[in-house]
Amino acid sequence: MARIPDAFIDELLARTDIVEVIAARVPLKRQGKEYSACCPFHDERSPSFTVSPTKQFYHCFGCGAHGTALSFLMNYDRLEFLDAVEELARRNGMEVPRETQQHNQNNDTRDLYNALEAAARFFQRQLESSDKARAYLDGRGVEASVRSQFMIGYAPDGFSALKDALGTDERRLKLLERAGMLSKNERGHTYDKFRDRVMFPIHDRRGRVIAFGGRVLDKDDGPKYLNSPETALFHKGRELYGLWQVRQANQKIARLIVVEGYMDVVSLFQYGVAQAVATLGTATTPEHAELLFRNAPDVYFCFDGDAAGQRAGWRALESVLPRMKDGRQAFFLFLPDGEDPDTIVRQEGAAGFDARLQAATPLSQFFFDELGKDINLSTLDGRARLAERAKPLLAQIPDGAFGDLMRQRLGEITGIGAQSQAPARPAPPPRRIAPSGANKPSLVRSIVVRLLHKPALALALEPPYGFAGLRQPGVELLLELLEIVRTRPDISTGALLEHFAERSELDALQKLAMQVIPGDEESWRVELLDAVHQLDKQTLQQRIEELQVKSRELGLDEADKYELRALLQARIGRS
Ligand code: UTP
Ligand code: MN
Repeated sequence: MARIPDAFIDELLARTDIVEVIAARVPLKRQGKEYSACCPFHDERSPSFTVSPTKQFYHCFGCGAHGTALSFLMNYDRLEFLDAVEELARRNGMEVPRETQQHNQNNDTRDLYNALEAAARFFQRQLESSDKARAYLDGRGVEASVRSQFMIGYAPDGFSALKDALGTDERRLKLLERAGMLSKNERGHTYDKFRDRVMFPIHDRRGRVIAFGGRVLDKDDGPKYLNSPETALFHKGRELYGLWQVRQANQKIARLIVVEGYMDVVSLFQYGVAQAVATLGTATTPEHAELLFRNAPDVYFCFDGDAAGQRAGWRALESVLPRMKDGRQAFFLFLPDGEDPDTIVRQEGAAGFDARLQAATPLSQFFFDELGKDINLSTLDGRARLAERAKPLLAQIPDGAFGDLMRQRLGEITGIGAQSQAPARPAPPPRRIAPSGANKPSLVRSIVVRLLHKPALALALEPPYGFAGLRQPGVELLLELLEIVRTRPDISTGALLEHFAERSELDALQKLAMQVIPGDEESWRVELLDAVHQLDKQTLQQRIEELQVKSRELGLDEADKYELRALLQARIGRS
C-alpha cells in the first residue's frame, strides 16, 4: 500500500477545518471556544462530545472517542485511512501524492472496477431472461427487494456468454481475466469461470463490485459455491459479504452478525435483520475482526452446531481476542444441527432469530468452556493445565477492564490468586519522579502538555537542546514533538497527535492534550521556558554525577577533569 508522506497529512489537516467536517454530519452547538453535540459514537441524552477549532480535534467525555478530522471520517463514515485521506483531499482540491507507477495503476484499477460492475449488470440482465434461474430463486423464497439490493444475477450456461458480451476486444478480455472472471484451459484458451450459476456480487466498503460468488442450481454440478480468485481488488481474508449493504441500511450499526453463507446474509436482510455479514468461505481472520469492530461495538458470530462449527468459533475467538478493547463485546451463537441462519429466520422470523442472539454465549464463557472441555477441573493438575492454556491467550487482550475481569475469572476457576495470574507483560515502569520534586507532575510532562496545547511554543526553543542527553522518561518523546513542530510551525494539536496515530503513546498524549491548564499562551511560554531551564540544570547535574562516579571508580583523565570543572562552574552560574 502506498504510504502517504507525513508532510502531506500535515498539510491536509492544516487546510481542513474539523468543525466544518463534523458539522456537515452532526449538528454542533457553539459553547464558548468549542462546539458540542450528543456523541455520534455512543447513545446519550446530554452532549459530552466536543470539537475544538483551535486544537483541531474532537473528544467525547462519555465514551472516550477522540481524534482529528481524519479519524472522524474513518469512524463516522467508516472509511479506511486511505479513503479518508482521499475524501479530505478532494474537499480541499488536493492531489494525494503517489509514485508515478502507482498512478498508472490507478487508471488501470478504475478499468477493473468498471469491468466488474459491467459483469454484475450483465448477470442481472441474464437473470431477468432466465426462467430456470428465476425459478430457483423463487423456490428458495428470495424476494425481489433483496435480489436488487444484493444485485443478484445469473451467469448463463455455455462457455463464453460473459466473454462474448464484454470481452469484445483484446484490452477488455485482459481486464476480464485480471478481474478473475475467466478461466484458462491447458491450451491457453479462456472461457467463462462462472457458468450456470446464481451470482452474488461482492462489494467493497465503498459499494464497488470487486468479486463474485456463484451458486450451482443443481446439486451435483461441481462445487456448490465458486468464488472469484484473489485479484488486485479482492482479498477474501479482508472482505465481508454484505458489509456494504449493512452500512447502507443502518445509520448507526449497533451490532454485526457474522454468518457463514451468502444466502444467510440475504435471507436475514429479507426478514429485516439488516446487520448480517459473511466471511467468504474462510475462517474469521484478524483483519476481519478489526473490520468488524471498526464498524460495530457488538459482534455476534453465528456457526453451525457441529464440531466444524465449534472449531470455526474458536478460530474466530482467537482472531478477536487481541482486539477486545473495552467497550467491545463478542458473542457466539451455535445453531441446531442441520440449520443455518437462512433456515432459522424463515422458520422463526426476525424475532425468533433475535431471541437466539439474545441468548448467545458471551466470549468469556465460550473461552473458559472450550479451554476446559477436556480438563478435569476438580483436580489440581487440571486447574493448573487450564491456567497454562489460558495465560498466553489472556495476555493478548488489550489493557482494560475486560482483560482484568478475564484474569480474575481464571483465578476464580483455578483458585490460583490473581497475583500469580498477572499477564506475561513486563511490569509497568516505576513511577517517574523528577529528582527536583517528588510527586509533582514531572517537568517533561509539564512541557509536553503546553506543547500539545500550543504547538508553536516549540519555536521558543532552539536546538541543540541542553536536555537532549537527560535520562528521564518522556525526553525522547519531547524531542520528537519539538522536531515535528520545527518542520511544521503552524501545526495544530490534532495534526500533531496524528503523527502518533499508530503509536502506543497516543492515548497518553491525547489525555494530556485534553487537560485543562490554567493561564494563557504567554504564561505557558514562561512556564515552558522555566521548565526547560530546570531540565538543562538536571542534565548538567546528571553529567557531574557521572564524572564523580568515574572519579571514584576509575579516576579522571585530564579532559574529564576539565569538563567537570567547567560543569561545576556552569552550575554555579545557572542557579
Ligand atoms: P454452506 O455449504 O453452509 O452453504 O456454505 P449455504 O450457505 O447454506 O448455502 P445454501 O443455503 O445451500 O445456498 C457456507 C458458505 O461457505 C462457502 C460459501 O461462502 C457459502 O456461502 N462455500 C461453501 C464455498 O465457498 N464453496 C463451497 O463449495 C461451499
Ligand atoms: Mn444454507
